Amino acid sequence: VERTSTIVALGGGVTGDLAGFAAATILRGVRWVNVPTTILAMVDSSLGGKTGADLPQGKNLVGAFHPPALVLADPETLASLPEAELVSGMAEVVKHGLIADPGLFELASRPPYADLGRIVRRGMAVKVRVIEVDPYERGVRAALNLGHTVGHAVEKVSDYKLRHGEAIAIGMVAEARLAEHLGIAESGLAETIAEALSRMALPTAIPVSMDRGAIAQAMQMDKKKAAGVVRFALPVTVGEVVTGVEVTDFDWLEAV
Ligand SMILES: NC(=O)c1ccc[n+]([C@@H]2O[C@H](COP(=O)([O-])OP(=O)(O)OC[C@H]3O[C@@H](n4cnc5c(N)ncnc54)[C@H](O)[C@@H]3O)[C@@H](O)[C@H]2O)c1
Ligand SMILES: [Zn+2]
Repeated sequence: VERTSTIVALGGGVTGDLAGFAAATILRGVRWVNVPTTILAMVDSSLGGKTGADLPQGKNLVGAFHPPALVLADPETLASLPEAELVSGMAEVVKHGLIADPGLFELASRPPYADLGRIVRRGMAVKVRVIEVDPYERGVRAALNLGHTVGHAVEKVSDYKLRHGEAIAIGMVAEARLAEHLGIAESGLAETIAEALSRMALPTAIPVSMDRGAIAQAMQMDKKKAAGVVRFALPVTVGEVVTGVEVTDFDWLEAV
């Protein structure tokens, strides 16, 4: 690799995050191009310039903002994607629907999918609109963390055996419960989300075998990153999210 080289990441979110992080740091940064081949990478991880790697201590603890020069998503590559990976990626599409596109929430939660290209385009559009307004997560970009405060903790406690999208599905339902408990979400929203996700054969509850204390502890890592307070992005209704909600340990425990 030389200063003028371009790195090409061909694959899912893991490949893109890692190749992008390599591109951000090798020779203090070279150009890169992202060619995502999973639903998740197309609608989410390839966009927004976040690159990095997970450490045993938690998700995304090393990384850099280093946007690719080009993102090229060809839905035809999805033909070979295993069903479980397709479904896991659709969890992030549901998230984008919840944030800003009720029609997309419906489309993503009603398999089988007749037109994946359309779903990918609409899923990408939600994220692009958000990151154009707030590229460095000073405000509205935090909406994209919906389901992720709980989801990342669950993903870590599962030893990364749960797929990212599966953990986020669990996280979205738990956080919607929390939002209802705090009077932020309309009542019944958590159930609507859980029904949608179970139609897609995604998990909607924290596995019984999973230690609740360990999940709370994993969430402390987020707290450290945020200097003491975890601020949640919470759903209000399908298509609307509020960000920056401070949640006490007590409320969180009551809700889940
Ligand atoms: N950078 C960001 O902003 C961001 C956002 C969301 C998620 N992520 C990260 O993305 C990762 C998850 O990405 P993912 O869901 O794409 O998982 P992944 O990259 O692990 O891919 C899933 C599996 O599918 C295989 N695969 C990929 N494309 C294929 C294809 N077209 N046909 C057949 N097999 C194929 C891969 O080899 C892998 O085994 C997580 O680590 C998550 O933290 C990053
Ligand atoms: Zn995610």
